[in-house]
Amino acid sequence: MTSRAEWIFGYGSLIWRPAFPFAERRWGFVRGFVRRFWQASPDHRGTPAVPGRVATLVPAPRHERCWGVAYQVPAGQLQSVLARLDLREVAGYRRRQVVVESGPGRAPLRPALLYTAEPGNPNFVGAAPLQAIAARVARCRGPSGDNAAYVLRLAEALGRAGGHDPELVVLARLGSGDVGADQPW
Ligand code: BEZ
Repeated sequence: MTSRAEWIFGYGSLIWRPAFPFAERRWGFVRGFVRRFWQASPDHRGTPAVPGRVATLVPAPRHERCWGVAYQVPAGQLQSVLARLDLREVAGYRRRQVVVESGPGRAPLRPALLYTAEPGNPNFVGAAPLQAIAARVARCRGPSGDNAAYVLRLAEALGRAGGHDPELVVLARLGSGDVGADQPW
């Protein structure tokens, strides 16, 4: 896609498990997107038979923001990092270039890349009531751990950083029952 981009923005598991080298890590947000658990996960937080639900970004009015973590990839390493991420996120995501804002008085981080799962990819399930998503999350587990642990870990990280995401808070509350261990990666 681009060889200029130096920042990668994570709004899902990249927040706690980038698993690539980075020179700097900053909380920030992208405007005009919301995080939604509208992508099925047959490979990380579920199985092909019972796929879990993981986050994607959905376009929204410009006043909406999605909070996450931006990583500055060391010079010369972007292409190898992207190649690894492309493999890790094989189940339907594609890269997009965005601008990340990381606070008042700080220059926007641009260009930055993130991954979104678009409608039309085979694992895109689209909108559903939060109760239904929570019920699905509660019963799924995959090679990366419990689907519920993914949601809770995300909610905790966002909560600690002050990243506003009301739907995530509700989803975490709905599912905060009996949650097994997450994998440490
Ligand atoms: C992330 O931002 O954590 C992420 C989400 C979907 C695919 C790849 C990474």
